[in-house]
Amino acid sequence: MPNPSTRPARKAVIPVAGMGTRFLPATKAVPKELLPVVDRPALQYIVEEAARAGLPEVLMVTGRGKAAIEDFFDRAPELETALEKKGDDGRLAAVHESTEVAQVHFVRQGEARGLGHAVLQAAAFVGDEPFAVLLGDDLIDARDHLLEQMLAVQAEHGGSVIALLDVGRENIDKYGAVAVEPTDDGGDVVAVTGLVEKPPVDEAPSSLAIIGRYVLAPEVFDVLRETAPGRGGEIQLTDALATLVERGEPVHGVVFGGRRYDTGDKLDYLKAVIRLAAERDDLGPALRGWLRDFVTELPPEGASPS
Ligand code: UTP
Repeated sequence: MPNPSTRPARKAVIPVAGMGTRFLPATKAVPKELLPVVDRPALQYIVEEAARAGLPEVLMVTGRGKAAIEDFFDRAPELETALEKKGDDGRLAAVHESTEVAQVHFVRQGEARGLGHAVLQAAAFVGDEPFAVLLGDDLIDARDHLLEQMLAVQAEHGGSVIALLDVGRENIDKYGAVAVEPTDDGGDVVAVTGLVEKPPVDEAPSSLAIIGRYVLAPEVFDVLRETAPGRGGEIQLTDALATLVERGEPVHGVVFGGRRYDTGDKLDYLKAVIRLAAERDDLGPALRGWLRDFVTELPPEGASPS
């Protein structure tokens, strides 16, 4: 018998305290979550996603070197006055959008001791209710309603829900991997029976990887407090979820088939910028035309560009 939660999730936690080593040297001075995807930081898309899913209260878990994130979600009176004087309503609206989309709170992680440790910093903010976690560098296309579906699955079954993506067996060693069983809900909703962080390819339970959306039961905080550092010496959220599964707590997975970009990865970041710009009304026509010419001029694979 499922154990539906009587309290729907209302709060979102966005961990942004990681070091972003894959994007050095840019991330020496700029948090990777603020790198622009076209003209907005990746993080703004993510806050908007939380608000669209009905989670208007957002806690960001920040750390040293991330003060620019707090500035971005704060009012900018001098800038607003300058734009008002110029009568630049379009840009003024864009500046307002970033502060008005959600109620954003901040807590600091102190030391980047892993995603599990980052999530643990949200315990006081969250209290005793289910909550969503959206990773600050993981962009889900606004037309794909992954978080909404996960919230619905959590409301029906209780427990926790994680987002999964089939990354192919050859890539699974870069992700948290899961063992799953089918459910009565149908193809894309599965029951998670085991989790392991970055397993060797030949030991992975499946090619399904955990991606950056979670809806978690508050019980995860007690488990995280007892979770020892795991892979890479970090306190892993995957390990805490594995403990919940071992204790018989329900953990479901939603297998995502839509568009997703890891903006902390250079290649995926470039794909996100190009795709989202190519689809925009203002930039799309000119960019698409240029892209077509560019592609026809590309040298064949293996030849070096001139
Ligand atoms: P990543 O696994 O991408 O780690 O974290 P990272 O350190 O940020 O980046 P790389 O791998 O060195 O390039 C996933 C998410 O969890 C947050 C990150 O900010 C990112 O949004 N995170 C990670 C924390 O908030 N704290 C941590 O201790 C680790």
